[in-house]
Amino acid sequence: GEESISMPSAIEFTGSERGPWRVTHMEATTGTGLPEVACISVHLRNDNIESLSSASTDVTWRLRGAISNLRYATREEVAILRSLQASLDRPAATSAALIPIKKSQAWWDLAQDERRAIFEEDSQHTMIGLRYLPAIARRLHHSRDLGEPFDFLTWFEFAPEHEADFEALLKDLRSTREWTFVEREVDIRLSRS
Ligand code: HEM
Repeated sequence: GEESISMPSAIEFTGSERGPWRVTHMEATTGTGLPEVACISVHLRNDNIESLSSASTDVTWRLRGAISNLRYATREEVAILRSLQASLDRPAATSAALIPIKKSQAWWDLAQDERRAIFEEDSQHTMIGLRYLPAIARRLHHSRDLGEPFDFLTWFEFAPEHEADFEALLKDLRSTREWTFVEREVDIRLSRS
């Protein structure tokens, strides 16, 4: 249950020439992309966003987010997620994806219960996602309240043999009604040795 129950954390993804995660593919799925980079680094802090290292200057771009509370998952869904999900940093999970997403104003103009209904009752986001656990490990970061260009920075880790599963998961999610509210999405695939 790492979706932060008690300790909010700040995260920063930086794109540059060097770093632990090598970019294997990068593509703008919807809207404007991001400048191409060779590598991505992940900086995680346990206190707050102000403490993130902005010391290194030779980065092409930086994206910041927060590990926040859950917005839509019900108690029952949280219980199932916790029982199935794998943690990040598994040695075999040498593939990853960073997918920054921005939703439209129409989405944010909806009330919370309307968003939940589209997210799950209609689009079945959680039910679809559960089929891919524990192979795909995930963490959601919220950026919207930080005045960032994206609303969410989604992060996934998996073993290379589950690449096809990850593609299937994306195909399923991108065909939902929820995704009609996505106005910007960049798909960045990564590999580490
Ligand atoms: C939110 C599950 C894959 C993008 C959520 C939430 C759950 C979930 C439970 C709601 C969190 C809350 O209550 O606030 C899963 C599972 C997946 C998966 C089990 C399987 C690996 C993905 C993928 C993407 C994605 C592949 C992107 C391509 C998002 C986004 C949100 C979200 C953007 C935030 C939606 C919003 O607050 O409007 N996911 N997800 N998820 N997920 Fe997924």
